[in-house]
Amino acid sequence: MEFFPISIFQLLFTSILSVIVTGLICVHIWLKSTVGKFYSNERMDGKTVLITGGNNGIGLETIRDLARRGARIIMASRKIDLGNQVRDSIMKETGNGNIIVKKLDLSSQKSVREFADEILRTEKKIDVLIHNAGCASTSNKKKSVDGIEMTYATNHYGPFLLTHLLIDLLKKSAPCRIIIISSAYYKIANVDLSNLNPLDTFPFFLYYVTKTANVMFGLELAKRLKDTKISVLIVNPGMTNTDIFKKVPFPLNLAVKHSFKNAWEGAQTTIMTAVSKKLDGVTGKYYSDCRQEELKSFVKNEVKNKIFWEESVKMCRLRHSDPTI
Ligand SMILES: NC(=O)c1ccc[n+]([C@@H]2O[C@H](COP(=O)([O-])OP(=O)(O)OC[C@H]3O[C@@H](n4cnc5c(N)ncnc54)[C@H](OP(=O)(O)O)[C@@H]3O)[C@@H](O)[C@H]2O)c1
Repeated sequence: MEFFPISIFQLLFTSILSVIVTGLICVHIWLKSTVGKFYSNERMDGKTVLITGGNNGIGLETIRDLARRGARIIMASRKIDLGNQVRDSIMKETGNGNIIVKKLDLSSQKSVREFADEILRTEKKIDVLIHNAGCASTSNKKKSVDGIEMTYATNHYGPFLLTHLLIDLLKKSAPCRIIIISSAYYKIANVDLSNLNPLDTFPFFLYYVTKTANVMFGLELAKRLKDTKISVLIVNPGMTNTDIFKKVPFPLNLAVKHSFKNAWEGAQTTIMTAVSKKLDGVTGKYYSDCRQEELKSFVKNEVKNKIFWEESVKMCRLRHSDPTI
């Protein structure tokens, strides 16, 4: 019998590989076994849904589902040509001719204002506003046209400004819903009130910070709107294989491709919060895998959330003529 000696490096390599593969399989099994699905066939006829970032990923699957349910959909897209292509294919697929695309770059306050002006001019009501768009950067430090760190500008300040500019229309549309797409990773980050434009911070981690900002914004918004019939619901889609991870390097990209949810699965909780009549009147709650979950206490700090709100007003350069919330 021949004996093939294994070097220490081969042994190490094989062990690391086995750990990675076992880890991937475990994450895959865990995600697939816990994924929440929204089975209801409730309709959305006569409802207008405004959703940001619907050209791909979770937003696209949300639009596809809501179009099937008969909703009128306004897609707020940064890339208008791609938005038109998506609209055409969803119209063809679902038979819903009531989908329109409008230009919006959330990282630019001018673009947010122009978009909001057009919506106020053309729309009579919004039943559901879905703040879905989001971006994550791995390494490049980028500044928006307004001089704000790009991840913060897109994921928090843009939606914050847009909500203000549309609030009177939302009040007229009540009962209606505002849905904010955050992430379970809000738990690992912290909003630093002394640095709300962190241009020198490593952008990868800022993604998580902005997801914490989304929760803080959502809770303070719900509090400020408690006497209206506008509900605010916060969503964690769960780890989902979308373009947001397209720059993730090898071997982490293997986990994204082979372990994460697909976009349809990632969209289920957004769809539930937009559609389910069971959530009528519910506000200030956080949902994950189609179930309500308790938020960590550190994001429920009302003093901190109020200060963050007031600083966001300054950062968005809200004017005296703009609506206040
Ligand atoms: N995927 C996950 O595992 C995961 C987990 C937790 C939370 N989320 C959240 O889920 C939401 C959707 O993300 P996704 O995973 O579906 O990613 P995605 O496929 O990359 O979609 C993000 C969307 O946001 C749009 N967007 C980015 N920057 C924008 C800007 N400045 N103005 C307007 N639109 C902009 C993108 O438009 P373009 O076509 O122009 O790029 C795209 O349509 C995000 O808020 C994300 O933080 C995702």
